[in-house]
Amino acid sequence: MQTQRPFSLLCELTYRCPLQCPYCSNPLDFARRAHELSTPEWKRALTEAAALGVVQAHFSGGEPLLRPDATEIIRHAHDLELYTNLSTGGTLLTETLAGQLRAAGLDSLQVSIQDADAENSDRMAGGAPSFAKKIEAARLAKAAGLSLTLNVVLQRQNIGRMEAIIALAEQLGAERLELANTQFNGWALKNRAALLPTRAQVQDAARLARAARERLKGRMEILYVLPDYFEPFPKACLHGWGRVFMAVAPDGTALPCQTAREIRGLTFDNVRERSLQKIWFESEAFCKFRGTDWLPEPCRSCSRKEADFGGCRCQAFLLTGEAAATDPACSLAPRHDLVDRALAETEAATEAQLIYRTANASLRISEAGQPIGSIGSRRRQTPKLPGPRE
Ligand code: SF4
Ligand code: FES
Repeated sequence: MQTQRPFSLLCELTYRCPLQCPYCSNPLDFARRAHELSTPEWKRALTEAAALGVVQAHFSGGEPLLRPDATEIIRHAHDLELYTNLSTGGTLLTETLAGQLRAAGLDSLQVSIQDADAENSDRMAGGAPSFAKKIEAARLAKAAGLSLTLNVVLQRQNIGRMEAIIALAEQLGAERLELANTQFNGWALKNRAALLPTRAQVQDAARLARAARERLKGRMEILYVLPDYFEPFPKACLHGWGRVFMAVAPDGTALPCQTAREIRGLTFDNVRERSLQKIWFESEAFCKFRGTDWLPEPCRSCSRKEADFGGCRCQAFLLTGEAAATDPACSLAPRHDLVDRALAETEAATEAQLIYRTANASLRISEAGQPIGSIGSRRRQTPKLPGPRE
């Protein structure tokens, strides 16, 4: 098999963040990983990425704007002729910074909001007021001439407000609205019992997204992808492991997927010690699940294997304890019962307390270790969400 070159690089500039979203894609033990790459180290990684064939650089975190050198790093990526996109929670964007990002050549800015309802948006971001700042950030981005994407992670608490979310994106003049169904890894898996929507909610949302996409054609692009849990077959997560995508974590760890460090037993190289070229072509972590030769049954004999590569490795590991297992989201997977059971619990209306992404929670969880599939839920008494807790 000829290994193709990566197309897209995700640069997670920092795990530090003023928000505490309970579905964050950062690792559960993020608080233990503080040794961030320096400005020259990020620039070198970007230079190596461009030489390797990468054409897009996405900057995220945590909150990437906590790095005072974010603009300088983005300018470097722009000078390398990479398409650049920055994902921010929006609370730190100022008029000056928006102008500086534009001048640095940033192609697109993505602002995440948690809901169109200010109270719930604030609650889902951890409790401190953030909604108004996010809306202001979207306005500042537009005023600076940046292309604006509004990103909303959908879960049980906001999926019923799709119309209001779409209306808000229109009002803000977003070029793109990303309605991202929660990927149940890491913090989101910990909180799955509280976050997983019902099938009826997901179907309603899909219908509204389709109608809005039609109505807004040519004005605003709307992305809505049905979540794996509600489909018979999984999607090719990241277009296949080690095929087109690589991520570099704040401490320089190079990852085939930003949540891959949740997979125990895989060893990852660091851009401080090895070039991206060597990591992409030779490292154990990138090579292990590349292509289809490693696939187990039933994937090995399945006609869909070149389309989905057996689904998501992180999901397979986090649900079954085996990274090489068929993704349990697949209806043909031997452990599909794990997903069926989660869906049945949601349909029966469950309530669970949210665990917010705080440094204290991260330390507590990583000290306790991560039992696979440790996802508690209990019958719902009231739909009210608790506030953040340490
Ligand atoms: Fe994809 Fe494997 Fe399911 Fe076939 S059996 S649809 S290859 S995950
Ligand atoms: Fe990591 Fe799918 S989220 S491979």
